[in-house]
Amino acid sequence: MKGQIMFRKDFLWGGATAANQIEGAWNVDGRGPALTDVTTGADVDHPRIITYIDKDGNPGTLTRLEKLPEGAHYACLDGYLYPNHEAIDFYHTYKEDIALFAEMGFKVFRMSISWSRLYPTGLEEEPNQKGIEFYRNVFNELKKYNIEPLVTIWHFDTPLYLEEKLGDWKNRELIPLFVKFAKTCFTEFKGLVKYWLTFNEINNTINFLPEDMPDSYFQDAYQHLHNQFVASAKAVKIGHEIDPENKIGCMICGITYYPHTDDPKDILYNRYRWEKGIFYCGDVQCFGYYPTYAEKLWKEHNVVLDITEEDRKDLREGTVDLYTFSYYMSMSVTTHKGDAEASGNMVRGTRNEHLQYSDWGWAFDPDGLQYYLEMIYDRYERPLMVVENGIGAYDKVEEDGSIHDDYRIDYFRRHIEAMKKAVENGVDLRAYTTWGPIDLVAASTGEMRKRYGFIYVDKHDDGTGTQKRSRKDSFYWYKKVIASNGEDLD
Ligand code: BG6
Repeated sequence: MKGQIMFRKDFLWGGATAANQIEGAWNVDGRGPALTDVTTGADVDHPRIITYIDKDGNPGTLTRLEKLPEGAHYACLDGYLYPNHEAIDFYHTYKEDIALFAEMGFKVFRMSISWSRLYPTGLEEEPNQKGIEFYRNVFNELKKYNIEPLVTIWHFDTPLYLEEKLGDWKNRELIPLFVKFAKTCFTEFKGLVKYWLTFNEINNTINFLPEDMPDSYFQDAYQHLHNQFVASAKAVKIGHEIDPENKIGCMICGITYYPHTDDPKDILYNRYRWEKGIFYCGDVQCFGYYPTYAEKLWKEHNVVLDITEEDRKDLREGTVDLYTFSYYMSMSVTTHKGDAEASGNMVRGTRNEHLQYSDWGWAFDPDGLQYYLEMIYDRYERPLMVVENGIGAYDKVEEDGSIHDDYRIDYFRRHIEAMKKAVENGVDLRAYTTWGPIDLVAASTGEMRKRYGFIYVDKHDDGTGTQKRSRKDSFYWYKKVIASNGEDLD
């Protein structure tokens, strides 16, 4: 409905990033390593690999689902490129970058705090003051421009030491270590930050685990999730105690699933996909207890959860204030073998003939965003935020330095229109932070050439580049969108 104001007056427009994908400075000022620092660059046809040295001193590599061999330790190896080490050097350029966000009129900036910048191994009793100082400077810089920080406490970056020595999140010992980290964030940044997300795309652990993996993988994955649910709930409680003004959300990787055919078996399978992939995590974090179908999911893979009465109490008492999610694509699923495949954030589904696909095989589906918003609001009845949405694309820099990214403008226009329709239909939507407002290192492939930004960064996959920032056409377009509170999308 043109001309009619759809978004709230205080709607938060902005962009979203993650520490490991922008900061660089991976070993500067006392920061400890994270898994992303031993993960190489790759491309659309080749997966990223993780490097290590085995117990006999020989170099080795792993893919995402493989396990570190007994006695081995993660390590950077000669001859590989680790794109997260430098990323786009936000650690040193944050003032310039925030000034550009302010020029676009950002109301909010989503970023994450690198756990190993505050606690290099995760075990220290006291936080690294240099790390605290860095984030405080960033928050103060945002404040100068009245940009609200939206802070993810964990965005895929557990300190490497905890991954290697404690076996990552399947180990309950990570719960108190995370709570210590979260408490430090709430205490140190009180008054500077009021919007928090506990775990980024928490559902990935189970949603992207292929069905044919051995049961032991499911045992670990469900326990991993349970430990994160408890850690999240404890953090929510502490966050509210430290500052009742804090608004704390869950963060789900939102994929709209469709049955590929009208075969009732596909309809049923699709419902199970929603339960397992999307609702399982949202239900626990929003309602504070496991849903009725959880037992069925565990039984499918003979999972026995280590869950205590104390855990159940924490879950009940630590429900989130906000439901936030990323949305890039929909996915069609089927029980029929052999239908053409499509890619997704680390998962594969069936190609939908009604949709177009990006160069990375991700479906372009704004209607899917409207569907997701309405479905989720109906289920949880609490404020929603779209905290990631965007298109990774190859950008061409013209001779005069300009970048005409009309495909990106079109992508955003259509998704904002979809959000408008959902708001018109009663959804309480509070924020929209596009993914990668400035080009950054892609999470799935480690590429720079998969560009998301309104701001171009002169940095390339072979590690070269001046790191110079420049404005794409979409920069000016988004500025107009924000200035008109989403009304001017032309
Ligand atoms: C989400 C993550 O899965 O998708 C981000 O939260 C990630 O960290 C984003 O960057 C886009 O994926 P990719 O692989 O294109 O960077």
